[in-house]
Amino acid sequence: MRNSLTILCLLIFSLSGYSKTIQVEIKPMPSENPVVVAPEIYGQFAEHLGRCIYGGIWVGEDSEIPNINGYRSDVVEAFRDLKIPVLRWPGGCFADEYHWRDGIGPREKRPTMVNSNWGGTVEDNSFGTHEFFNFCELLGIEPYLSANVGSGTVEEMAKWVEYITAVDGPMAKERAANGRKEPWKLKYLGIGNESWGCGGNFTPEEYSNVYRRYQTFARDFDGNRLYKIASGASDYDYNWTDVLMKNVGRRMNGLSLHYYTVWNWNDKGAATNFTPETYYYTLGKALEVDSVINRHVEIMDKYDPNNRIALILDEWGTWWNVEPGTNPGHLYQQNTMRDAMVAALSLNTFHKYAERLKMTNIAQVANVLQSMVLTQDDKMVLTPTYHVFKMYVPHQGGNFIPLEINSPFMTVASERKDFERKIPMISATATEKNGEVNISLVNTSLEDNATITIPVKALKVNKIRESAILTSEKISDYNDFSNADKVKPTQFKDAKIKDGKLEISLPKASIVNISLV
Ligand code: AHR
Repeated sequence: MRNSLTILCLLIFSLSGYSKTIQVEIKPMPSENPVVVAPEIYGQFAEHLGRCIYGGIWVGEDSEIPNINGYRSDVVEAFRDLKIPVLRWPGGCFADEYHWRDGIGPREKRPTMVNSNWGGTVEDNSFGTHEFFNFCELLGIEPYLSANVGSGTVEEMAKWVEYITAVDGPMAKERAANGRKEPWKLKYLGIGNESWGCGGNFTPEEYSNVYRRYQTFARDFDGNRLYKIASGASDYDYNWTDVLMKNVGRRMNGLSLHYYTVWNWNDKGAATNFTPETYYYTLGKALEVDSVINRHVEIMDKYDPNNRIALILDEWGTWWNVEPGTNPGHLYQQNTMRDAMVAALSLNTFHKYAERLKMTNIAQVANVLQSMVLTQDDKMVLTPTYHVFKMYVPHQGGNFIPLEINSPFMTVASERKDFERKIPMISATATEKNGEVNISLVNTSLEDNATITIPVKALKVNKIRESAILTSEKISDYNDFSNADKVKPTQFKDAKIKDGKLEISLPKASIVNISLV
């Protein structure tokens, strides 16, 4: 991997040192049979890693930190506003070492374990199956369970499903004895995680066989219907997808994929201290998820032309060096306007693949990697990424409206030899739901403003209901415990409809959402 970053050539919008205003036209292409953007594309991920669960979500009933049945009240409220559709748990790499029986029954009697993947921290199992499912219930979230395949048995996985979903029988009785008579609903079941790596170092052929065996014993109890997700490829490993599609086929409902915005695993760079070159480089890497998804989808199309098996991007996001002075195994990082840009560009990309891409889970929901919230004792801050997710809530479940965008772009180098990446100055996405059209726009330029026109007649809307902008003085700005509101959305006033056209003045380095009726 190359360490030095070079901007190869700059086209139209640039690091020229003075600001220009660029005209961009966007043409909506609404279709008669639109594809729905699955709400689950806005999914989240919570692992037993660092302070994601402990301190981030769970503090326990006896904590002095205000809580609802042990869950931090501030976090519960923040998550409520995000309308989180689905939450993946308990890992990640942790999932393949997690033994669910350690996390049920009276908390003081639960055994401890060493979390070998994540800093060797001692896990006390006080947050287990009941705590997770009750949390999801509290917030109306669909649980997504990652079952242990790497170091767990088929029986262990089968009994876990029974414990959670059966109405009667030994597992149901045990659950009731632990305080929960009614079964929970469990839809999403992941069979292993990163099975090519921390989940067991399988080859795709070996894992296909393992998957077929485990999924056989993942039963549907009493009307519960499992949606089974096979552990998928990392980034550019197209062979993994090919082998799984060939050898497993419709025994899976979904096949996962992981893609992180990181280009040098030895030195991932600082979350808050970066140059304009690194900023553009980051966007280039983040946007490359487009071609990666596209290639995996092409392979899936070959085996499954009728689109029965979904692509599930169940880990994505930025991955920086940990904050100085924090445990390197806890993956705690700050979150700037650059992360917000990555979030918005990624979500804009995901919408385009809504036909095959039915869920994504950003890593992770609290205090780990590209988080929604950061907590410190009784304090919590909402990250710029949180604000993007909140601004994008109206897109959940919306009808996708393809857009033709005549944006200038910049070409940047990549760590992959002889390979360049293109960054559009303007990225946008649009959806329609119940007659309301939401258009989200990103201006990636650090220097140039844009004037954007969008004809809206074909969208059958003529009024702006509301609009919001997320921007900040510096792209490296972030929220911390002494300045929690440095980066936050404000009302956006530079948009109007005139002569059937939406006219927008989009400032540099900004993200805007406009709701039209
Ligand atoms: O999200 C952090 C880790 O990244 C997950 O545990 C693992 O699946 C991935 O490598």
